[in-house]
Amino acid sequence: MKIYIINGPNLNMLGIREPAHYGSMSYDGLVKMLTEYADARGVETVIYQSNHEGDLVDMIQEAYFAGAYGIVINPGAYTHTSIALLDAVKATSLPTVEVHISKVEEREAYRQVSYVREAAVKTVTGHGTDGYIEAIDFLIERSKNES
Ligand code: DQA
Repeated sequence: MKIYIINGPNLNMLGIREPAHYGSMSYDGLVKMLTEYADARGVETVIYQSNHEGDLVDMIQEAYFAGAYGIVINPGAYTHTSIALLDAVKATSLPTVEVHISKVEEREAYRQVSYVREAAVKTVTGHGTDGYIEAIDFLIERSKNES
C-alpha cells in the first residue's frame, strides 16, 4: 500500500515558523517520523513539499498514476484559496485526508474556508504533527475495511 503525503507552502519552515502554532519539529524531523511510522506498518510513502501550487497539483495527479491508495495533504495557505487543488483531488477520486497542524477553526476568519475539504474523506486539525499519524492510521484502517 502506497500513500502520498503532500505539504504545501511554508511547511518546509516547520520548526522555524511560528512555533506557537506549528510546534518545534523541523520539516526533516517530520519526514523522518512519518517515514519510520509508515515503514513499521508496511506502508510505502512518497513525502513531498512544494511552495508552488501547480507542483502540488502535479503531485496529486502523480499519486493517481502511481497507483497510490490515498493521499494525506496539508495544503498550507492554499487550503483557503485553491480550487485547483480541490479539482485535482476530485480528479483522482483517491481517499484524501486533509491535515492542519494548527487549530485553524480557532484562528483568523480567512482560515475558515477550506476548498479541499469538499473532497476530503476526513479532516484533522490542531493535533500538531501527530495529525499526520492520525491521517495515516485512518487510511490504513480504511484500506483494511475494504479488503
Ligand atoms: C496550516 C494552516 C494554514 O492556515 C496555514 O496557512 C499553513 C499551515 C496548518 O498546518 O495548520 O501554512 O495548514
